Amino acid sequence: MDVPGFALITGGASGIGKACAKAFAKEGSAGVAILDVNQDSLEAVKAEIDGEIKGLQNGSSRTPCQVEIYTIDVTNEDQVNQIVTEVARKFRRLDYVVNAAGIAIKHEGGAAFAKTADWQRVLDINLNGTFFVLRAAAKIMLEQEPIPSTIDGRPLQRGSIVNFSSIQGVAGITLSTAYTTSKHAVISLTRTASEDYADKGLRINAICPGYTETPMTTKNPQVLKAMEERVGSAVPMKRMGAPKEIADGVLNKAEAEKDEDSDLVDGQ
Ligand SMILES: NC(=O)c1ccc[n+]([C@@H]2O[C@H](COP(=O)([O-])OP(=O)(O)OC[C@H]3O[C@@H](n4cnc5c(N)ncnc54)[C@H](O)[C@@H]3O)[C@@H](O)[C@H]2O)c1
Repeated sequence: MDVPGFALITGGASGIGKACAKAFAKEGSAGVAILDVNQDSLEAVKAEIDGEIKGLQNGSSRTPCQVEIYTIDVTNEDQVNQIVTEVARKFRRLDYVVNAAGIAIKHEGGAAFAKTADWQRVLDINLNGTFFVLRAAAKIMLEQEPIPSTIDGRPLQRGSIVNFSSIQGVAGITLSTAYTTSKHAVISLTRTASEDYADKGLRINAICPGYTETPMTTKNPQVLKAMEERVGSAVPMKRMGAPKEIADGVLNKAEAEKDEDSDLVDGQ
């Protein structure tokens, strides 16, 4: 893929975000900044990616991908502004941003019994966090020149932001009041922001994965059971997606558009 620039990925210590970080590093990005609230996992992911890069480097003259990690809480607006700026200063530009940090909570008994604290937390991370990162990154991207293609030298884009919505951004699923609302809102955020800057070469897209095998879906046995039932009855593939499959879709969206404008993409 044609992703030679510098990437910033939130939620990169686990699941899909981690798969995205690995994919950018493998596909030739100059640098990857991995941001997450979980510091221990961040360090493990960096060690894993550095090891993979070393393996790929074997005998090649390619400059190795620079991997940086940052502990962040995406709900903290000041911290987001400070770290996004710091990443751009370190890399001297910011080409791809992936907003993968997210949480899912089920409300026992449905919307009527949803706790305000759960509603607030999901909206804070999934929606406000995505907005804070998008805003901080877009300001930087709008000031930079488009990156040239490594394939044919043509100017590609000023920057590309991929937000994580979900199949629950386009459909309602039971017991998921806050999550489904947040993911619908991420699509709206993406649509309006992409209209703001399409003419400036800043591309903003959302990806809507179906059920994907990550800690989000597998660590809670109750959630996993419900997920497996749903996959059996409602997913034509009859299996969950793999994080790597979603990462491929993200990189595809992050690289320069071939023949379409900024828009929503359904990942699976
Ligand atoms: N797994 C699925 O089936 C699925 C389907 C559709 C969409 N998604 C979306 O994909 C994205 C990635 O999900 P995943 O399945 O890889 O989940 P995951 O739980 O494996 O990873 C999410 C990461 O986000 C981080 N995070 C949580 N709160 C944070 C905060 N406040 N600040 C910074 N980081 C924080 C976590 O530490 C974790 O590393 C999420 O936005 C999720 O809603 C997942």
